[in-house]
This record gives sequence, structure tokens and C-alpha cells, in this order.
Amino acid sequence: MKRVVVVGTQWGDEGKGKITDYLAQKADIVVRYQGGNNAGHTVVIDGKKYSLHLLPSGILNPNIDNVMANGMVINPKAFIAETAKLSNFKLHISDRAHIVLPYHLELDKAYEQNKGDEKIGTTHKGIGPTYTDKSARLGIRVSTFIHPERFRSRLKELIEFKNQELLHYGKEPIDFESVYQEFSEYAKVMKPYVKDTSYFLNQAIEHNKKILFEGAQGVLLCLDHGTYPYVTSSSPTASSVPLNTGIAPWLIDGAIGVTKAYTTRVGSGPMPSEIHGDLAVRIRTIGNEFGTTTGRPRRIGWLDTVVLKHTKRVSGLSYLAVTLLDVLTGIPELKIATSYNFNGEEIDRIPADIEDFMACTPNYITMPGWNEDITQVKSYDELPQNTKNYLSKLCELVGVPLGIFSVGPDRNQTIMVQSFFEESTHD
Ligand code: GDP
Ligand code: IMO
Ligand code: MG
Repeated sequence: MKRVVVVGTQWGDEGKGKITDYLAQKADIVVRYQGGNNAGHTVVIDGKKYSLHLLPSGILNPNIDNVMANGMVINPKAFIAETAKLSNFKLHISDRAHIVLPYHLELDKAYEQNKGDEKIGTTHKGIGPTYTDKSARLGIRVSTFIHPERFRSRLKELIEFKNQELLHYGKEPIDFESVYQEFSEYAKVMKPYVKDTSYFLNQAIEHNKKILFEGAQGVLLCLDHGTYPYVTSSSPTASSVPLNTGIAPWLIDGAIGVTKAYTTRVGSGPMPSEIHGDLAVRIRTIGNEFGTTTGRPRRIGWLDTVVLKHTKRVSGLSYLAVTLLDVLTGIPELKIATSYNFNGEEIDRIPADIEDFMACTPNYITMPGWNEDITQVKSYDELPQNTKNYLSKLCELVGVPLGIFSVGPDRNQTIMVQSFFEESTHD
């Protein structure tokens, strides 16, 4: 496979950053195709930790190209902060991506406050309001943003309009001049990276380059196929890659579904296999399950193969990359949700309506755990038999083969089981 999508199969934070960084060593280009700095992707190389929010997780490989594609929403201030920490990278920003502006952040908070108990639990990064403006034809694209006069007149018009909405929610109006002054400086920094990235990617494909498409969030947070309304405002599925990057659908060769060995979720919304109490605390502590972007404690649950089968259907998965396997070490019995009870019926799909999904209770199978330290394992064969059994049961239930497994946060704690993305041949 030459063009592979890295997809989060659950509710985000599956380890996409880590898997992307690992596979990026064999790639020519890494492309982030949706979301913004609501994402938090962790990469650990030789013990040094990097938290990426906007930049593709290939950025730590100095020889490869990184693309922020048209499907992204980019907060220029966050972009400047993130790039300031790095040196020696090759980056291309789509002229068609949308810009996150200060009123988007304010409106994100206002909508959440207004929802009260029914709040989504967003990251407050302005992602929903920016995508809303994109759909409403009220957004600012990068191409306009880097053009001082066009940005000035568009921003002036939009701030006047948005201030009415902010006042409606009891928020302070935004001062046009100060936002313009601040953001036009950011635009100067971004401008050298900006181009038609669809053109760039299509040329690269003609030259047979190897490309990784890195999703943010997870399929259960997809605007269309996730647990609506408790979702983000874009689509992390593999099927959204062509639209969000400007390439033909048939140019995608496959998708690797990054799957945490259990389940986590940040923010509100149903999660049938959620667990509470000492075991949840233990997994949260050992797995360091606190949000990379917001620091919020993540909710913990058993692995749920109904969720994974849903992801396989709506996105497509060629292989699984199972992460955080080491976190389960020492738990005597591991449960896996295999179906739900819904209105007296056994189902293996996710009902569309959130009330119906909340009424689902999982049916579990139980697998024996393992006590051996697996963090230094270098091959599948070295794994304890019970770990192998857990992995093979998971793959059997989902109907997708194992491609990679991961036994610790570091890049070198990643084991490739299938060689689906070989060394770059270049042209
Ligand atoms: P992403 O949003 O999908 O990129 O995932 P995050 O980076 O938000 O969260 C995954 C967390 O798990 C990060 O802290 C990673 O460093 C860590 N991690 C990834 N793979 C492993 C693993 O196999 N074992 C352990 N213990 N931690 C891992
Ligand atoms: P990565 O890429 C986990 C969640 C938020 C909230 C919902 C909507 O690191 O896996 P938003 O700010 O997008 O409008 O919030 O989506 N969410 C994530 N949860 N990982 C993420 O990204 C997330 N990005 C958004 O917690 O429930
Ligand atoms: Mg994350």
C-alpha cells in the first residue's frame, strides 16, 4: 500500500500520533486532513515527548513533507506557538483550509454554556463555530488570510456581524483593529508555507510517493457517523480523505485503524462499556489517560467491538494498530463487549438516536489477563500467550487483521506485524 490512512477507531486518543510518527519513517509525505487544535497527538522519541495539535505527526522526520490539508481549520496563533518549538521541517499549508478566529473560541464557549447539562464538552478551541462558518459561507480561507487587504475587509465585515451574536450571549464584543493587527502578523509567518496542496499531492502521487493521511479524533466523533450530537464538527473517516485533501477516492489504498486496547472518551455522550471505580482509576493512572489538549481526565471502558465493527463499516479498515496493550498488564480478567441489548433484542450495531444508544447495555466475553511485563517485547512471538489470545480474539471479532501493536509510548515500543507500508523507494 502506498497511500494509507491512519484512522482513530474509537473516541479519539488511540495513539494516532505515535503510529503516524512510526510509519512516517517509511513515508514521503504525511497529511493531516481534518480538525484543528482540538487534537492532541503525542509522539515520544528516545524518551522525549512532543505534543502536536495542528502539525502532522510526521513533522519530527526532517526529510519528509508534511501537509495541512484543505479539510483542516487552523488557529494561526496556535500554529505559531507550535512551530516555534520545532526546527528543520518541511511543511505545506492548504490555501483552502479555514482560519479559526477569536470570535470562534468565544462562541464555542457561549454555545456550551447555553447548552447547560447537555453540553458537548468541547475542547473550547472554536472548532465547531469555524466549521459552521465554513458551511454558512462565512469563513475565511487561508488564501484570503494571507492577502492583507482582502483579509482586512473580510474580517471587518465578519466581526461586525459576529459581535451581534456575541452580545446576544452576553459576551464582550471583539475589537476589529487589535485582532487584525495581531493576526496579520501571524499571516506573514504562515504565508511562505501556503500553496495548493491538492496540486502538490496529485503531483506527488504521479511520482509514486508514499503518503500517510493522519486523522484527528476518532470515528465515533465523526459528524456523520459518530454519536451525534456528542461529536466533533468534521469527519475523521478514511472516506473523508479524498474530499478533505483534494485527491480521487480510488487513490487511497487502505486504512490502518488505531485501536486502544480498551476504550476512552473525553467529553460528554454515551459510552456503553464505561467502567468506574478502582479499575478505572488504575487504568487512567497507568495509561496516563488525561487529555493532551485540555488535561481533562479521560473516561475509561472495556474494549467494545460493536464500536470497532461500526468503524470498519463506515470508514473501512485494512489493519488494526492496537496500542496501550501494556496498560492492561496485571488485570486478572479482561472484558470485551461483543454486542448490545437493546429493547430486548441483541444487536451489533449502533442506533442512530442518542437516546436509543444510551439505552444499550453491552454483552461481554471475558478473557484471562497476563502479568508479564511486555514493554520490552520486540516481536509478536515474544508476547505472553494470553496477550496473543486477547489480540487474536479482538481481530477475529472485528474481522480485521493485526498490522501493528504497541507496548509503550516510545517510538521504539512499536511492533509491525504485517509489512503493509514498506521502505520508501522514491522515484
Ligand atoms: P492520539 O490523539 O490518537 O494521537 O493519542 P494521544 O497522544 O492523545 O493519546 C495517546 C497516549 O497514549 C499518549 O500519551 C501516548 O504517548 C500514549 N501511548 C501511545 N501508545 C502507547 C502504548 O502502547 N503504551 C502506553 N503506555 N502509552 C502509549
Ligand atoms: P485526538 O485527535 C478525544 C472531543 C471533545 C468533545 C467533542 C467535540 O487527540 O484524538 P470539539 O472541540 O472538537 O468541538 O469537541 O470531541 N474531541 C476529542 N476527544 N481526542 C480528540 O482528538 C478530540 N477532539 C475533540 O472532547 O467531546
Ligand atoms: Mg489525542
